[in-house]
Amino acid sequence: MNTPRPVLVVDFGAQYAQLIARRVREARVYSEIVPHSMPVSEMLARDPAAIILSGGPASVYAPGAPQVDPKLFDSGVPVFGICYGFQAMARALGGTVAHTGGREYGGTTLRARSDATTLLRDLPTELSVWMSHGDCVTEAPAGFTVTAESPGAPVAAFEDLAGRRVGTQFHPEVGHTEHGQRMLERFLYDVAGIEPTWTPENIIEDQIAEIRSRVGDREVICGLSGGVDSAVAAALVHKAVGDQLTCVFVDHGLLRAGEAEQVEKDYVAATGIKLKVVDAADRFLGALAGVTDPEQKRKIIGREFIRVFEAAAREVAASGDVEFLVQGTLYPDVVESGGGTGTANIKSHHNVGGLPEDLKFSLVEPLRTLFKDEVRQLGLALGLPEAMVWRHPFPGPGLAIRIIGAVDRQRLDLLREADLIAREELTAAGLDRDVWQFPVVLLADVRSVGVQGDGRSYGHPVVLRPVSSSDAMTADWSRLPYDVIARISTRITNEVAEVNRVVLDVTSKPPGTIEWE
Ligand code: XMP
Repeated sequence: MNTPRPVLVVDFGAQYAQLIARRVREARVYSEIVPHSMPVSEMLARDPAAIILSGGPASVYAPGAPQVDPKLFDSGVPVFGICYGFQAMARALGGTVAHTGGREYGGTTLRARSDATTLLRDLPTELSVWMSHGDCVTEAPAGFTVTAESPGAPVAAFEDLAGRRVGTQFHPEVGHTEHGQRMLERFLYDVAGIEPTWTPENIIEDQIAEIRSRVGDREVICGLSGGVDSAVAAALVHKAVGDQLTCVFVDHGLLRAGEAEQVEKDYVAATGIKLKVVDAADRFLGALAGVTDPEQKRKIIGREFIRVFEAAAREVAASGDVEFLVQGTLYPDVVESGGGTGTANIKSHHNVGGLPEDLKFSLVEPLRTLFKDEVRQLGLALGLPEAMVWRHPFPGPGLAIRIIGAVDRQRLDLLREADLIAREELTAAGLDRDVWQFPVVLLADVRSVGVQGDGRSYGHPVVLRPVSSSDAMTADWSRLPYDVIARISTRITNEVAEVNRVVLDVTSKPPGTIEWE
């Protein structure tokens, strides 16, 4: 299989396009996000299987509000307009959009017409749906049937099945809309006639073919971080070109308990990958000695990482014709850096763009069309260790930015012990997937009085920072059950020497950040 014809999700500027694109992928249909400024001719040049117009800014009448070029509708490509896209579609096709004052924000009740056919077929006639609109469509364009209404929207959904065009004022992509995913699937399968072939197996097969044709018989290098993205990217490349790939793992001594072993042993056992391990803990800790400023820590770690990786890459390169560097760039990075075919921003800590001229590589980025959840599915399908596939996001500078104060071996050991206890108890409670990330932070420069055994103690506090999030841009503190927090607290204060207090961070982001540094 080659990369299938995409469903294009036209981004009108709000947060919805990525979510829609993900939901389409969940329906096992390949999707891509394109900016609304892309000319219709360019969209059509991509041979889309369908086009979805996303939600966007408040009003189609606002000055400078993006419009839909009516030429889009002459192309015969199936179209689904959602929210703003629904209104823009109605307007472009000669319907009426009015400012009626009937605004709806949040949950509302949708009433489907009894003759509703495609999207709403066989669903309850009253559904709870999510809306966010000030204007509304008051008259559907000629040739369209109104299929639903809501208290604030006389035309809440319409369809023109002969023309393969449908639209909804509400957001089918959000979890608050009942049966929203089914509606999207009905558009994709029934209206647009697309087959659900975007499966992990097909993605893997597709990528292997692409990597093989690009790399040929040349050599490839990949830096592993212990995280899922680089692990999956490398595993894919290894499946494609075998021992032409050498992986480099720089152990900076700032990982959590068991993570270096996971890379060095479990991952290698699962994949058979050729791995060069550089134990650089002394070097990193030496460079970090006495440094307390978080940005300074990041800079030092970034600098040392480049140097160590560069030296390792030189050694690997000396043994052959190494032309390619694998990066675990994901689709959201590609979209956020302007999308399309350019090179994505490389996260600062993993930035190897600073390598010297004679070490310039071409990038191989086998995950650049994928969302994180798809990368995990691929990881499972490739047989990677579960602990690695489901690992929570972890910052490149590692535990160095979770020690408030200077970093040294003893403090790292303390934090590793406390962190391991928190992870063990979270896993034992079956809550790993309910939490986005669970930083444990050591306040190394703070001491408080306690009483432990018969004596007075003067130890450090540890902060628990479990958060819920979908993209780390915003986050809320996780409401973990008190008994889980209690077990973590009891174990940490009993088992970790020098820690006599455990506190819970109950700050959302914003105003807090996820990490303390
Ligand atoms: P904050 O603390 O800004 O973190 O809310 C947002 C996300 O980014 C991660 N993070 C980092 N990742 N290098 C990284 O690779 C860093 O320097 C860094 N700082 C924060 C953090 O864990 C969270 O997922």
